[in-house]
Amino acid sequence: MLDMSQGIPGIPPPAMLLDALGRCASDPQACGYCSITGEPLLMSALAKEMKHIYGTDCDLSPDDTALTAGANMAFTAAIMAVADAGDEVVLPVPWYFNHGMTLQMMGIIAVPLPTLPHEGFLPSPRKCAELISTKTKAIVLVSPNNPTGAIYSPSLIASFALLARERNIALIMDETYRDFVTNGVPHHLFVPGPLQPSPDLPTDWTWRRHFIHLFSFSKSYCIPGHRLGAVVAGADVMEQIKTVLDCIQICAPRHVQLALYPLLPELRPFIRETAHALVQRHKLFRSLLPSTWELGSQGGYYAFVKHPFKGISATEVSRRMAVETGIVTLPAGFFMPLNYAITGSTGKDADRWIRFSVANVDDTKVEKVLSRHGRVQSTSEGAILASLTHPSSSTHKKEKSSKGKGKAVDADHAMKKSRRNLNKTTTESTLAKLFTSCGPLYQALKLSNVQLDDCFIVVCPTVDELPEMRRLAEKRAQHYMPKERELCSESTLVAPASERDAMP
Ligand SMILES: Cc1ncc(COP(=O)(O)O)c(C=O)c1O
Repeated sequence: MLDMSQGIPGIPPPAMLLDALGRCASDPQACGYCSITGEPLLMSALAKEMKHIYGTDCDLSPDDTALTAGANMAFTAAIMAVADAGDEVVLPVPWYFNHGMTLQMMGIIAVPLPTLPHEGFLPSPRKCAELISTKTKAIVLVSPNNPTGAIYSPSLIASFALLARERNIALIMDETYRDFVTNGVPHHLFVPGPLQPSPDLPTDWTWRRHFIHLFSFSKSYCIPGHRLGAVVAGADVMEQIKTVLDCIQICAPRHVQLALYPLLPELRPFIRETAHALVQRHKLFRSLLPSTWELGSQGGYYAFVKHPFKGISATEVSRRMAVETGIVTLPAGFFMPLNYAITGSTGKDADRWIRFSVANVDDTKVEKVLSRHGRVQSTSEGAILASLTHPSSSTHKKEKSSKGKGKAVDADHAMKKSRRNLNKTTTESTLAKLFTSCGPLYQALKLSNVQLDDCFIVVCPTVDELPEMRRLAEKRAQHYMPKERELCSESTLVAPASERDAMP
């Protein structure tokens, strides 16, 4: 199973943080409540950390911050502070589903601001301006974005901030993935006008009246289960936020605050390395993605990809990828209002986008995902044939035969030839039938706890070719399996006899 669905850190936190968490969890001090806005020492450390990230000229103090039980809690508190039931909030679509759901739960109207694939899923301030009414209380942006991965430039963010100021509404930015921006400062909004490094913001700019920043410790510090986030806002809004937080959380989990405050500077190299590794993983993902799959945007944790199967919904392709190849992803439908489609129309083809959480897996797994994924093909009947072999042909190494005096023996090549024969000699409905017989096999494997990552499923054109296919599969397995692992006798898997007999 390769889980690229929920955005979860693919690695644990560093040992120094784990140790501190253990120590602080058993500290009697952590058993009591702390103040509504959090441990003062962490509020102060966070304000300093933000100056490190957004620039030393930032106008930020500990009093601007409040610690929350995660960024979702921070969003809830911020929204409750600025809007009431019946008010409107503009949200670029696709949106982060918890934002959509929170607004719906509170009776606040989420006004969709479409973002388009050919514009890199970047929201337009001009289109946003057209959506603002007398009922609008806020614009919500997420950058780097969930689900599209799009990273908004400081200049685009400045345009939205000025729009919010002009219309006297709030700009709420969820910057859960801010530490994964590696090519500069995420934006300059915290720097006061006279010190502005950017020509996009005027000399009378100040962030406190119209800007609310949300942060999550879940991703950067790899601690989603410990539930810690933050909201940063000016004094007026912070007063409202405090009332909300008092009612819905009293205080954020305390042990994690105590563990983190002395460590933030020391953890910077870990965060930086993780961010750079993720950028490389995105590059790998992009280079291995089959050309028929269209990459819309990527960044932070996510890649947003359009599948090639016309007329089949992303939900169906995601479901089948999960069941038939063990790759779990989320279709775009999760990230938008009901009956909404990416292009703004309701055409079926618009519903072909899928989110991959690239951060969940390491480089080797990205290769595995794309080797499985690359072999998912469409037949004209809309059936999907997954002929799965490992690893990706684009990453395979040629094997030298001991007897062949340097002649390359390439098991992949033989496999491909065999698949070509299969395509020549069988009709599409037979392919669909063959594929159907792989589905139950995968199910059976899953039930028997076999590591799906380590399996080959070989689709044989005829029963006669079974021994040859078995030989090739075993050869490849030996080639790619670590030496310490033994090839199990059932390494080549074939359809159950009843189904085999029905095949031509
Ligand atoms: C944009 C965004 N905001 C908030 C969250 C949730 O963060 P937390 O775990 O801090 O509540 C996520 C998690 O995936 C997210 O993608």
